[in-house]
Amino acid sequence: MPNTNTLAPDPLDTRALRHVFGRDRRSPQVNDLSKHHHDNSHHEPPPPPGNYPFHLDLEDLLGAAEVDKIRQAGKLVFHTMGDTGHKDHGSEAQFAIAFHMVGQLESLPERDRPKFFYHLGDVVYFNGEKEDYDSQFYEPYDEYTAPIVAIAGNHDGAKGDDQSIPTLEGFQMNFCAPQPTHTWMAGHSNRTTMIQPNFYWTLLTPLATIIGLYSNVDGKINGKNKAQQDWLTEELKNAKQRGDKCVLVTVHHPPYSLDSSHGGHTAIQDVLDKAFADASFTPTAILSGHVHDYQHFERKIGTRKVPYLVSGAGGYEGYSNMHQLKPGAVPPAGVKLKKSNTKLPGFLKITVTKTAFAGQYYQVSRPNGHFSNSTATLFESFSYPL
Ligand SMILES: [Fe+2]
Repeated sequence: MPNTNTLAPDPLDTRALRHVFGRDRRSPQVNDLSKHHHDNSHHEPPPPPGNYPFHLDLEDLLGAAEVDKIRQAGKLVFHTMGDTGHKDHGSEAQFAIAFHMVGQLESLPERDRPKFFYHLGDVVYFNGEKEDYDSQFYEPYDEYTAPIVAIAGNHDGAKGDDQSIPTLEGFQMNFCAPQPTHTWMAGHSNRTTMIQPNFYWTLLTPLATIIGLYSNVDGKINGKNKAQQDWLTEELKNAKQRGDKCVLVTVHHPPYSLDSSHGGHTAIQDVLDKAFADASFTPTAILSGHVHDYQHFERKIGTRKVPYLVSGAGGYEGYSNMHQLKPGAVPPAGVKLKKSNTKLPGFLKITVTKTAFAGQYYQVSRPNGHFSNSTATLFESFSYPL
């Protein structure tokens, strides 16, 4: 009887064979200092690297056989958080979180194992520098042997002292490359470049459609034109037409936040609400970063309860610079704060089945000498029916 329980890749599955994501090796920390350049301007992004409507299929990352397994299992699991870079500080938290994410990859049974890490922006501080991709991205996730995709954050689009460097240059080269290749920016990591078709783009998976927006440096979707707004409306209409049950929208700047440093972004709220109205469709959940803590909001839209999640405690803030909530601050009418964590950094593990969008937020304690001395503790579990 042939052995069907093999991990060897299907020899015909050439789509997956071009990718390399990481390796099983520990690596040292790098701390390298630079001054914070405050850029809050809106920069028109470069032309889309790929073709409209900017779709990437999970099969192009994992291959058809792996995606078929997800389909058969009826379950998709992935990690998500933002704000991970570690210029000046935060490296300890970033490495500790990465350690526990790798731990989940290695220990969870196949059907519960996260299939990718969806980064919610601010990959490289402070201005998305190409030369910092190794120390802030490739090295910390060197052992994370699953794909990492991303939306860009304000720091990824920001411009530094050298104004001749185009906005998003590092992000484009590392996340929107035409092919998976090993770049000089990856240093000793085996991870190849990601092949996202644009700075706003949609990831198609068997159980969830993930529509990723680019909220630029200033927290605005719309610049000279409304191309991204129109695209979002079309993507929501398409999802509705296909009958997608779980539709997630990701955007770096959070529509709602009660923190005293950044706060919520009404310009993002307006863009989302206009698109929901124009498409006559409300997505399942909104995921954001930017604010360096965890906040779980719930908004009543019609008869539905829609979670708006802020997961921006991915490492940058370290263990002592978490964004705190403003005393007395309350969300807008119809929105309530269900849970927040401003004490410890952490990450979200999302699970999508045919009947539920669920999540688990893990807080990660400070490592005492070695990362294995830190713990990842379940802080919140939630589930929304589909
Ligand atoms: Fe940010």
